[in-house]
Amino acid sequence: MVGTTRGAVLGRDLAVDLGTATTLVYVRGRGVVIDEPSLVALDDAGDLLAAGRQAFRFAGRPGAHIVAPVHDGVVADFDAAEQMLHRFAVAARGRRSLTRPRLVVAMPSGVTAVEQRVVREVGYQAGARQVEVIEEPMAAAIGAGLPVHEPTGTLVVDLGCGTTEVALIAHGSVAAARSIRTAGAAFDHAISSWLAGEHRILVDQTTAELLKRTLASAYPLPTEASAEVTGRDAESGAERRVVVSAGAVRHALEDSLRAVVDVVRATLDQAPPRLARDVRAHGLVLTGGSALLTGLDERLRHDVGVPVHVAHDPRSCVVTGAARCIEQYAALQPLLVPERRRAG
Ligand SMILES: Nc1ncnc2c1ncn2[C@@H]1O[C@H](COP(=O)(O)OP(=O)(O)OP(=O)(O)O)[C@@H](O)[C@H]1O
Ligand SMILES: [Mg+2]
Repeated sequence: MVGTTRGAVLGRDLAVDLGTATTLVYVRGRGVVIDEPSLVALDDAGDLLAAGRQAFRFAGRPGAHIVAPVHDGVVADFDAAEQMLHRFAVAARGRRSLTRPRLVVAMPSGVTAVEQRVVREVGYQAGARQVEVIEEPMAAAIGAGLPVHEPTGTLVVDLGCGTTEVALIAHGSVAAARSIRTAGAAFDHAISSWLAGEHRILVDQTTAELLKRTLASAYPLPTEASAEVTGRDAESGAERRVVVSAGAVRHALEDSLRAVVDVVRATLDQAPPRLARDVRAHGLVLTGGSALLTGLDERLRHDVGVPVHVAHDPRSCVVTGAARCIEQYAALQPLLVPERRRAG
């Protein structure tokens, strides 16, 4: 009978990576069933029209507003986030489920007590019976298969859209962590600012992101390509094309890349020497969508001087790690953020 055994109830529990760009939802026993842009379309009254990819269909329609509820990894619009999560949770679990789920939600490390309370409240409003929070780097490390419980120091660098989070983990806890608001969105912005300044051509974020994925690199490549970019002339507004080289795009990204290198170095410098030695010996692991930036691993290897591994399927490490906490709740509960920190 539905809901009479612990297993059946837990069977509908959810792990959520509520990211700046992407929300992933994992349903216990089924895997990742939602992988959607973190977007909603709302009407003038603030009611939900659509969530995720469906929201794009309302772009430009009178009376519809496209909202991104998560900024820099934290909930910026409570109502929009709650409606988005509710829509995704229903889609993930199916309408027929009778029990309210337990939710494990990943949040950036070092978020304030208020930000944490907001995300828990979003979960409860969206219909959860219990909301647990896990720090993203811890979830990313678990999801990447790193031995978080062991005494050996392991360094995870989660590069998402809004934030880059670096955490040194040992003995099941975070020994040193840093976070900066330089990640994929900053890379896109650097590319579009450079095009505007250098080539007097204006492009939208989608074009800048496409250039990032297809041409940009963080480290010189043996053979470097060029690409044609279409935008609007900054003065006349007329459509115009320019050809840009991979080297020039890398140069445009330089300040952002240096910020990422610096935060990794700073985390290692701040770490207890024994754990930093472990990282120098075994290397660090890159997770998050921006870990896919071409040559980022090589750049960090070169500039930080440690071996670098890109996790398998880096975009889903955080949700996979949060999912492990659902599956092995009793064993992994000590890794979750205690709710009493709400008051802190
Ligand atoms: N092949 C690629 N090359 C470079 N960047 C990529 C690639 N694929 C995805 N990205 C970038 O990854 C970012 C999204 O990653 P992810 O889904 O991990 O972010 P998020 O979890 O939503 O953000 P955050 O963790 O900061 O809240 C976007 O900025 C996207 O442009
Ligand atoms: Mg993320």
